[in-house]
Amino acid sequence: GACDFHFNQSGGVERMKIAFFDSGMGGLTVLNHALKILPREEFIFYADEDNVPYGTKSREDVLKFVDEAFGFLIAQGVGAIVVACNTATSVAVKEMRKKYSLPIIGMEPALKVALDLFPNRKVLVTATAITITGEKIRLLIEKLHAENLAELKALPRLVEFAERQEFKSAAVEEYLRGELADYDFEKFSSLVLGCTHFNYFKDTLREILPSHVKILDGNAGTINELIRRTNLNSSKNLIPSPQSLVPKFFYSGRRVTDSAELARLGKFLRRLDEMEAVT
Ligand code: DGL
Repeated sequence: GACDFHFNQSGGVERMKIAFFDSGMGGLTVLNHALKILPREEFIFYADEDNVPYGTKSREDVLKFVDEAFGFLIAQGVGAIVVACNTATSVAVKEMRKKYSLPIIGMEPALKVALDLFPNRKVLVTATAITITGEKIRLLIEKLHAENLAELKALPRLVEFAERQEFKSAAVEEYLRGELADYDFEKFSSLVLGCTHFNYFKDTLREILPSHVKILDGNAGTINELIRRTNLNSSKNLIPSPQSLVPKFFYSGRRVTDSAELARLGKFLRRLDEMEAVT
């Protein structure tokens, strides 16, 4: 019930320190969702801005970047790490779980969600090149027996557009129309956003796709998994803390304190709030 809070020595309600990690600004999608579901935890957001994008680099390089970020986050004393990046999950989550015993929650493209909703319709899974050529997605497709239903498409330029806050423009529209032109969407139930950077473009996608095609992401699934793995109970943790904590932001291990940069982060989060309304 509502009384089983854990109290720390100072008598206050203990919060859990949870890290969200991404190559860049895509992970804010997952953080933004978490802030709404779990308003009283302490969040750290780490964007590897020195090395973004990951999706076009070698697996070896990405593994090294993720390993460095994890070392930093562990030193911050976090109780769990959400890998809010499909690419980093695909490449490195297995290794990180071998190395560290804290809960590590990865992203999974919402293919299962799509197939549960529409069992025999095709699904277009969009992601980075590393994710769609990786073993992890191949195993997921196999597990779901979706060999004939899942089609994979890399949309690497969306990562660049997102990083420079070019959310809606003629160039974005032209790029997406071009990349999606060859699909017969009558056969598809849904398009899965298999890269956390892609949520910034839901409005343009909505304009391009026929209205029956659902746009699905893995954010809710990831946060549900976080709650399960950390024993955070969402109804208990829904009670806002007396002073709601603003997340701490880091770029590749450097704390972001500059007010112009914090304002830029605010613009990403506002964009995500707008995109959450696009269904
Ligand atoms: N945000 C990352 C993902 O979810 C990848 C972006 C990148 O290429 O760095 O896959």
